[in-house]
Amino acid sequence: MTTRPTVTKSFRGGISPLIAVDRETAKPLHRQIYDAFRAKILGGDLRAGQLIPSTRELASELRISRIPALNAYAQLLAEGYFETRVGAGTFVSSSLPDRLISCGDHTGQAAGASTGPRRIAARASALPRYERLPWMQGRGAFSVGQPALDAFPFRVWSNLITRYSRSLQMSALHYGNPMGLEDLREAIAGYLRTARAVRCEPHQIMIVSGSQQALDLSARVLLDPGVPVWVEEPGYWLVRDILTAAGCRRIPVPVDAEGLDVAAAIALCRKARAAYVAPSHQYPLGVTMSASRRLQLLDWARSSGSWIVEDDYDSEYRYQSMPVASLQGLDHHSRVIYIGTFSKVLFSSLRLGYIVIPVDLVERFIAVRQAMDICTSHLYQAVLADFIREGHFSRHLRKMRLLYSERRSVLVDAIRNQFGSSLKVLGGEAGMHLVVILPNRLRDREIAGRAAQKNLWLWPLSPSYIGKDRCQGFILGFGNATSAEIPEAVRRLKSVLTS
Ligand SMILES: Cc1ncc(COP(=O)(O)O)c(C=O)c1O
Repeated sequence: MTTRPTVTKSFRGGISPLIAVDRETAKPLHRQIYDAFRAKILGGDLRAGQLIPSTRELASELRISRIPALNAYAQLLAEGYFETRVGAGTFVSSSLPDRLISCGDHTGQAAGASTGPRRIAARASALPRYERLPWMQGRGAFSVGQPALDAFPFRVWSNLITRYSRSLQMSALHYGNPMGLEDLREAIAGYLRTARAVRCEPHQIMIVSGSQQALDLSARVLLDPGVPVWVEEPGYWLVRDILTAAGCRRIPVPVDAEGLDVAAAIALCRKARAAYVAPSHQYPLGVTMSASRRLQLLDWARSSGSWIVEDDYDSEYRYQSMPVASLQGLDHHSRVIYIGTFSKVLFSSLRLGYIVIPVDLVERFIAVRQAMDICTSHLYQAVLADFIREGHFSRHLRKMRLLYSERRSVLVDAIRNQFGSSLKVLGGEAGMHLVVILPNRLRDREIAGRAAQKNLWLWPLSPSYIGKDRCQGFILGFGNATSAEIPEAVRRLKSVLTS
């Protein structure tokens, strides 16, 4: 095995702290600089190990000669406030005794001080408290929504980044088109038409920061506070948060073996402004919406002038049949806003997704996007466009389909072996997760809390519901677990359930 040499990173050009010098006072300049640095170190504004600007940089910023800066630095070095590292620069000393340094609060909020009324927007207060629940604190065999990162083509990806970075043009540094990079939109349009039967042209495709931004943007464009919106019950928790933040009235609609129950939804609230659905692979139950339900849903949208937001987050992966065509492809009245993401097919930190927008709404989406974040960062869009155009994307998808199919079979078999028919398995035919339903008396959140203490990360099913009537179970991801790990993880699941 070869060991890599340790690389000491050398950071040139420390950030200049806010130091003011006054040429009119009697206090010499070198003393003013010395006092200012000393006060910032002792006050905790400059921290141990932090890089300090060179004397040349500081003198230039303060518009003084270099001599006072040199004198001040010499003094700070002599007294041990600064230290130099050969070839790296001058740093705040890493060996200052803690007692010298004030442990004051640097958050800007003084403890106990009255800070006056602190009113925030009702839509922010309405969101549930942000917390990392026990099952969110680690990753393991059952991580939900995690693709097989062990099989990601790292080398190809990093070669494309390097190639692109080497030939970076100045034009790439400007604000980009709010719709996204033309090349990428063309590549996505080709993919969606062929593989997902989406009816689209590149000028309808907006590149965004993952489905989350797409869902949020669609809510900003389509929904007003107070309007009713159908959501799947159970459903994707982050859609619910978006609608809460938008001040909408969420109408939870039951999902059965055919997907969202459209008749039940109409009975609950025909006049809903929109329906948020994942028809190809419902989250979390994994159901595929039947053809008759699709037509019913489209018919409702047309007759009531409502919108359908189609979240197509991982439908590339089906194991017993071909991927199901999109709902958007069946829509002849431009009622569907189609959303896709690269989080599942590539990796989630990429933060790239897309919206296929009905032509007449494109301008409104751009106007709202402009007010949000203007455009998507350029580099990864360009790299991804090459990744798709050069065939790496389709190759990766084919490879992943086989891999997930194997991991899914191992998981289903392991559940059968350990539990027989006592655990009901739902939605194992597609995507990267399945659901197991617990026998009656077991509480999923409580078990997930206990499992987390043993480093077994289980996502409970019941928090996916809005209403009180909740199934208890677990959403078990299998994307990022090797086939060798899965049986042991299922054994551990059994031990947690039976303890
Ligand atoms: C139903 C659903 N939609 C969308 C996403 C993807 O979100 P993003 O593209 O923002 O990473 C997820 C992620 O887990 C999901 O479960």
